[in-house]
Amino acid sequence: MNDKQLTGEVYYPSKDVIKHANAKCEKLYEEAEKNLEGFWEKEAKNLKWFKKWNKVLDDSEKPFYKWFVGGKTNIAYNCLDVHVETYRRNKLALIWEGEKGEFRSFSYFALRREVCRFSNILKSLGVKKGDRVTLYMGRIPELMIGMLACARIGAIHSVVYGGFSVEALHERLEDSQSKVLIVADGSYQRGKIVQLKQIADEALQRAATVESVLVVKRTGEDVYMEPGRDMWYHELMNLPIANNSCSVEQVDAEDPLFILYTSGTTGKPKAILHTHGGYMVGTYTTLKYVFDIHEDDRFWCAADPGWITGHSYIVYGPLLNGATSFMYEGAPTHPYPNRWWQMIEKYGINILYTAPTAIRGLMRYGEAWPNRHDLSSLRLLGSVGEPINPEAWKWYYRVIGKENCPIMDTWWQTETGMFMITPLPCTPLKPGSGTKPFPGLKMDIVDEDGKPVKTNEEGYLVIKTPWPAMMRTIYNDPDRYVQQYWSRFPGMYMTGDSAKRDEDGYYWIIGRVDDVIKVSGYRLGTAEIESALVSHPSIAEAAAIGLPHDVKGNAIHAFVILRVGYEKSDKLIEELRQHVGHEMGPIAKPEHIDFVDSLPKTRSGKIMRRVLKARALGLDPGNISTLEE
Ligand code: PRX
Repeated sequence: MNDKQLTGEVYYPSKDVIKHANAKCEKLYEEAEKNLEGFWEKEAKNLKWFKKWNKVLDDSEKPFYKWFVGGKTNIAYNCLDVHVETYRRNKLALIWEGEKGEFRSFSYFALRREVCRFSNILKSLGVKKGDRVTLYMGRIPELMIGMLACARIGAIHSVVYGGFSVEALHERLEDSQSKVLIVADGSYQRGKIVQLKQIADEALQRAATVESVLVVKRTGEDVYMEPGRDMWYHELMNLPIANNSCSVEQVDAEDPLFILYTSGTTGKPKAILHTHGGYMVGTYTTLKYVFDIHEDDRFWCAADPGWITGHSYIVYGPLLNGATSFMYEGAPTHPYPNRWWQMIEKYGINILYTAPTAIRGLMRYGEAWPNRHDLSSLRLLGSVGEPINPEAWKWYYRVIGKENCPIMDTWWQTETGMFMITPLPCTPLKPGSGTKPFPGLKMDIVDEDGKPVKTNEEGYLVIKTPWPAMMRTIYNDPDRYVQQYWSRFPGMYMTGDSAKRDEDGYYWIIGRVDDVIKVSGYRLGTAEIESALVSHPSIAEAAAIGLPHDVKGNAIHAFVILRVGYEKSDKLIEELRQHVGHEMGPIAKPEHIDFVDSLPKTRSGKIMRRVLKARALGLDPGNISTLEE
């Protein structure tokens, strides 16, 4: 790959980086290209299976692909027990720092102990294989313990991001029909307390299936405890039943591991379902090669475990690789903008993986903050969630990585479970491009008819080969899975993104082509924001769009039609913003709200957000032949 003269601005990895890398680039691409199933099978053999698979890939019922069919395993067993049985027993699995500066750490041994104890509690509450358990808290170790405990006993976890609010939580509890909710009393965010239990109580009034609520004490504020339903986590963990040993459920490779809700084109969020076997092999392998995980690495994925990035690369990927995962509870700028850099120095973090919005946010405070700290432990950097603008890329590379740390710009999705377009440490980099598909993956950029577009032309990003960590279905809605992802271009997985490919075969992501808005890397659906607005008594109709924003990437702009009898005012705008915050969560609050008399719609009544966006940006709205009069 190094031999060819590449076009544009290119950053070549150093000899040291290449020498250190787990991935011997050309060889890895070649092997996977030659034999896709053989490639993944070889990786799967590095993990522990109670029973070996009969078939690596079963595509007889595509798009319902199956991987490692007939195999029996358990991802939590591979994350913990496997290491406890080796010299890694006393190695740190998790280092945690709270926003207020508290420190906690867990060796592999200790983490397994806590997971076993909590698994026993869940079992004693009647949680069985296949039952759904919702977790709703901030970035605290109990979230990881809860997820792993569910996995250990074969229950399906559904983590709801701690920044979501009443209606978002209610909807997810109800759709998943969760039996148990694990919640924290509250969380810290920029020095303030978010009353998670209070939000949960309100959501629970609307959701009927939850039988038990387990409350983790984090802030120590007074909270309401419903008799017969609510129990303190720490009290349960002190009961004799919470003993240190808990047998592991030997699950089928294709048994569900978790569901995670994400926003799609229309209507309610979709419950993306991932399984034990394929997801395990996919996250293990991608992290090992892309972030070049070694025995002594401390890996910091600064995302939230409530999103796929945290599932795959705070919890599962690092533990499967026997690395040390670092988790920080709070905001990057609290109490000062050097918080992150201070922790990198303090803990000797080797790899930092974050989102462009965080980089842009920290960049605003200038170089002096990071320059006060010794960041020389860093070896690799990563970016995810949205396209990284070359300016932020270069700042990250120069100021944080000191021009020694390649940036792994990884493109992937909740649905893909693992990195899909990504460099390897030995890949020459171009700022703003995720470079190429991971070894073995065939991706393409196609036009309206599904035909590949020409070099440097924009089109729909599609995936043409199955991969082990791919979503298996939308929980309880297989038809929607087929319709949403596999029907637009037969035989190809539709990502919902538009992209270009340059003369060197490098991919450049442009953005979503559907009604998903990426705000600070968080994925929100216009439909959810609109329904939160319409649930306010003053609003008859609403439309939400994303407009470019310097730090957030996109900011939400809403257009609303008032009901008769209501007057527009600044006070109402603020009330509407608060209302969306209360129903959906602070990240969904519109930046701007405009009162309008009508919305552009197609003759069949669909809002043409594209027209609203073009108007707001002063651009040509393009083809408007379907616009109603
Ligand atoms: O639009 C792409 C963008 O994030 C979407 C997936 O969002 P989500 O399911 O929340 O998962 C985010 C983290 C894996 C994609 O469809 N996206 C993700 N990573 C990148 C990106 N856009 C550009 N570059 C990336 N590296």
